[in-house]
Amino acid sequence: MLERVETIMKQLVDEVGYSEVSKLFNTLSGGKRLRAKLIFKIASTHKDAPLLGAIVELIHAASLLHDDVIDDAALRRGKASVNATEGSKTAIMLGDILYSKGFSSLVAFDKEIAQTIANSVTALSKGEMMDVAMAESFNDDAQSYLEMLYFKTATLIEAAAKSAALLEGKDADSYALYGKNLGLSFQIIDDILDIVSDEATLGKPALNDYVEGKCTLPYIYLYHDLQDSDKQKLKSLHKKSLSEDDSLWIKSKMKKHKSIERSFSLARKLSDEAVSCVDDIELKEIIETMMKRTF
Ligand code: FPP
Ligand code: MG
Repeated sequence: MLERVETIMKQLVDEVGYSEVSKLFNTLSGGKRLRAKLIFKIASTHKDAPLLGAIVELIHAASLLHDDVIDDAALRRGKASVNATEGSKTAIMLGDILYSKGFSSLVAFDKEIAQTIANSVTALSKGEMMDVAMAESFNDDAQSYLEMLYFKTATLIEAAAKSAALLEGKDADSYALYGKNLGLSFQIIDDILDIVSDEATLGKPALNDYVEGKCTLPYIYLYHDLQDSDKQKLKSLHKKSLSEDDSLWIKSKMKKHKSIERSFSLARKLSDEAVSCVDDIELKEIIETMMKRTF
């Protein structure tokens, strides 16, 4: 089934009729295809599930191309990013092509499905703007951080689950809530991995989020648990390139205050809530695989 998604994505990109675009698209690493897998599990019998999966994955790929320009990221999924090898202009335009090809293919679906996906892209962009604004200064508010995560990451997963449910005639609200909680939990795990994994596994430098200015949940929890002088030290390292000693200091403080465990507990709670929304063993498995992932 996933092969079908890859084929449709390639077909849509080839329709652009510019070999440079097809060539560049083929160099992208596909990633986990979590969103397409989710669509297949929910709308397993529907003939249009592969097209819906391809649309959502094209939009996701576009958002990452743009995100790497915004974050000035050199690596994506262990490979040099398009902005690093081809420049930001090309990365933005390739993103525009993938995004608009995905959007125009939405006409094949009912209005509610098309609207669900389209609205999620607005939310996604809003989340990215919030992320950029929040990274300007140190943020210690978990609530606003989680709100930003919802928009930046969970909305597209929520929309994928909801639209697949609409396609298959299942209860859209339950599946949307499953997708939302899965998305939030997924991003919290992502933020944890940025701290606990090494560069080789991550495909990007470790502790990169904090260097980029992103105060993810473990940093927020840690900040509130620190004494005043350590609070100041943590703040002083925000958005700076970190020495080996700085990284070790952050990690040892997180270990002492169990900041990773606390973040993981919230991811677990959200995952359990996701599972309780739907009575489906395969969707439970998606959650468990996601919770155990190391990259
Ligand atoms: C990754 O965040 C970024 C996203 C999940 C969303 C990015 C959204 C946009 C750029 C809006 C534009 C959308 C379209 C469709 C063109 P991250 O930087 O925290 O994660 P990373 O470590 O994987 O880079
Ligand atoms: Mg990024």
